[in-house]
Amino acid sequence: MEVQGIVVASLLLSCFAATSYAVTFSSLRSTLVVSASTTQGQVLKAGDDKINIIWSLNTTLPSGTDSSYRTVKLKLCYAPISQHDRAWRKTVDDLEKDKTCQHKIVSRPYTPSNNTVTWIVLRDVPTATYFIRAYVHDSADHEVAFGQTTDSNKVNNLFEIEAVSGRHASLDIASVCFSAFSILSLFGFFYLEKRRGKSSQQK
Ligand SMILES: *[C@@H]1O[C@H](CO)[C@@H](O)[C@H](O)[C@H]1NC(C)=O
Ligand SMILES: *[C@@H]1O[C@H](CO)[C@@H](O)[C@H](O)[C@H]1NC(C)=O
Repeated sequence: MEVQGIVVASLLLSCFAATSYAVTFSSLRSTLVVSASTTQGQVLKAGDDKINIIWSLNTTLPSGTDSSYRTVKLKLCYAPISQHDRAWRKTVDDLEKDKTCQHKIVSRPYTPSNNTVTWIVLRDVPTATYFIRAYVHDSADHEVAFGQTTDSNKVNNLFEIEAVSGRHASLDIASVCFSAFSILSLFGFFYLEKRRGKSSQQK
């Protein structure tokens, strides 16, 4: 009985493994031309600064290249310099396991031209060096193509994002301390009042 159970379970598992569809980055064609308003080495502040992003299909491709294209998902991706020694940002060819592009920017229905978006860098984006990549998905939501603001070696057109600064953080801490102090003073005040009331009754 138990052996049968194990056999059935492993058969089921291998079926799942066979049907799961692993898309690798290296299998994707670079067909989108993506550009951003950022300049090489520019430092943007999370929560404040904006990026304009423009994308379109490379016009030199034969017509019909984009017949399966349905959605474009723009993502913010770590440059190699910010992945070094950080396994949690590692590039893996299997896109299910890839940690290069962790921050979603926007998802749009695919159109071949005139695509533009203005994105304000979100406050939770950590300090690092980045580029932008657009993934094209088909109707089954599988990645089929891409385009990015940097070259294939991820060297050019990189920009930096500076996380919400220490100044903001210390301001936040100061206001928390201040509120705590006010509450404590209030309690202290009541306590003293009560004590005064008691001692005046005793007299
Ligand atoms: C468009 O595709 C052609 C042919 O693949 C390539 O040579 C060219 O560099 C691409 N243009 C852009 C702007 O990526
Ligand atoms: C893209 O925008 C330009 C200028 O706004 C316009 O002339 C052109 O027809 C548009 N192209 C498409 C395919 O919508």
